[in-house]
Amino acid sequence: MVKLWRCQICGDPYVGDEPPANCPFCGAHKKYIFEAKKIDVSFDVRLNAKDKANAEHALEVEVSNASFYFCAAGKTDDAEGKLLFKALGKVEAEHAAIWKKILKLQTIPDKKEECRIANKDNLEESHRREDRAIEFYRKAANEATDLRIKQIFVALVEVETDHLELSEERLGAR
Ligand SMILES: [Fe+2]
Ligand SMILES: [Fe+2]
Repeated sequence: MVKLWRCQICGDPYVGDEPPANCPFCGAHKKYIFEAKKIDVSFDVRLNAKDKANAEHALEVEVSNASFYFCAAGKTDDAEGKLLFKALGKVEAEHAAIWKKILKLQTIPDKKEECRIANKDNLEESHRREDRAIEFYRKAANEATDLRIKQIFVALVEVETDHLELSEERLGAR
């Protein structure tokens, strides 16, 4: 029987027989997915100066990475690469939406990033971007005093690490 599930990280709902292994929207791992009626998800957090600065930086990182991935999805010279970058673009755009909610913004800022034609170049750029994101999120998680902010940073370290594995697997196969 289908149920309504909800991701505790991005707050988005999912209809299915079983909880998904990863949130189909933000990629959060299964441990953050519960029956919708059984959890509360809040983005109403009182941010201290450090958490606010980190949330603002996180928004910038996610907007930039989403833009890079959508560019690569259109341009890269590999059929599977196009699909991979489209999937990653959607996840990073969802991450940007999390920070938009936390920062109580009306809109998501716009940023146009460049990408390449050669799939290998885009995979290498993806690897650099995910490395930087993981390092930043780890630091931000350690600095966070608010438990909800810490939870989001920790969950996103896991998701960006999954993304890093995707580029590593493909770069290593060459
Ligand atoms: Fe992300
Ligand atoms: Fe990522």
